[in-house]
Amino acid sequence: AATAVGIHDLSFATTEFVLPHTALAEHNGTPVGKYHVGIGQRSMSVPAADEDIVTLGAAAAAPVVARHGADGIRTLVFATESSIDQAKAAGVYVHSLLGLPSATRVVELKQACYGATAALQFALGLIHRDPSQKVLVVASDVSRYELDSPGEATQGAAAVAMLVTADPALVRIEEPSGLFTADVMDFWRPNYRDAALVDGQESIGAYLQAVRGTWKDYGEQGGRPLEAFSAFCYHQPFTRMAYKAHRHLLNSAGYDTDEAAVQGALGLTTAYNEVIGNSYTASVYLGLAALLDQAEDLGGRAVGFLSYGSGSVAEFFAGTVAPGYRAHLRTAQHRAAVERRRPIGYARYRELHGASLPTDGGDHPSPEETTGPFRLAGINGHKRRYEKR
Ligand code: CAA
Repeated sequence: AATAVGIHDLSFATTEFVLPHTALAEHNGTPVGKYHVGIGQRSMSVPAADEDIVTLGAAAAAPVVARHGADGIRTLVFATESSIDQAKAAGVYVHSLLGLPSATRVVELKQACYGATAALQFALGLIHRDPSQKVLVVASDVSRYELDSPGEATQGAAAVAMLVTADPALVRIEEPSGLFTADVMDFWRPNYRDAALVDGQESIGAYLQAVRGTWKDYGEQGGRPLEAFSAFCYHQPFTRMAYKAHRHLLNSAGYDTDEAAVQGALGLTTAYNEVIGNSYTASVYLGLAALLDQAEDLGGRAVGFLSYGSGSVAEFFAGTVAPGYRAHLRTAQHRAAVERRRPIGYARYRELHGASLPTDGGDHPSPEETTGPFRLAGINGHKRRYEKR
């Protein structure tokens, strides 16, 4: 039989600060119901001045390396769409902060929020080639839109680290995948901008088109029927989007929309995303974390994954939850990551949002703010310096 390959461990980290949507609503006069109910978001993670995709990624991955050791990890794939350098992979800093062996390949992958799924598929291919190897996938993003824009309420930040191996303890990833690519301008960030540009309503349509496209291809590739799935993890730019997507999937597959069934399929996948906000590449895997951390025993059951990255590329695939997976979860760590965040007010959030990166090559130490395990100490001579706290 073919080797079972998939997710052996999964750990996430998020930021030092959190802004409740009540504060945003109070600032801009929006009825808070639009946030809590309309888009399904309650608060957003906000990075401290000395946090970024590297510190978040390292914080997510450190517990994985602590539990399993670095032995056998010969590849680290870092997925992000909020990259800090056009050339150097952010994963190289993470590799250094974690003290991984020099005999490692490290690379950064990008295709909007889809990047982590590309990283996962890359990892699965490497492990099929040599089942003794392990791949560390790190998906880390800080989601930023312009102040007072419709996207602002969907910001967030988090990182997920996944150890991908043969005989995984959490989820076995299956063939086939359903694939879909279309050249659309729904969401993008030109190199000269640090906030994304988005056509909000167009982006929702583009996501739904991709749902239909991946499901069609998944069927044509001989995938499982819809009834085979116990739950679905969608990319969640805001949690209500998962509901829109799943209703669209049901309609595409020729089913009526039964709201109780939709709730049953998605209800446990949104708990982390609704308090963290959009974490781009990490979002679909935060959905998986929430499902595994909260569900009754899912051992042996199939979960559907829909990964969408604007621009656009999407993939639908199935995973089977490994029997006995519950002994390997990090539920307490994940809840602590959400609960340890310090609430900030609107003014402080706006100050952090407005801070721009130095471009002069001078010495720019970062204020000491984060209480997380790693921090960006500063930028000096155009070089970022990180440290363990
Ligand atoms: N109480 C309850 N619900 C309310 C309400 C109230 N007082 N006021 C409004 N609502 C509802 C609306 O009816 C609407 O619900 P439906 O979608 O079910 O109709 C919902 O709240 C949102 O209202 P609007 O459509 O008017 O909101 P908007 O246009 O101001 O902004 C948005 C919504 C376009 C998603 C915006 O947040 C945005 O641009 N977000 C960024 C882009 C994005 O996330 N796109 C998702 C697909 S692209 C993707 O997935 C990639 C990625 O990560 C970016």
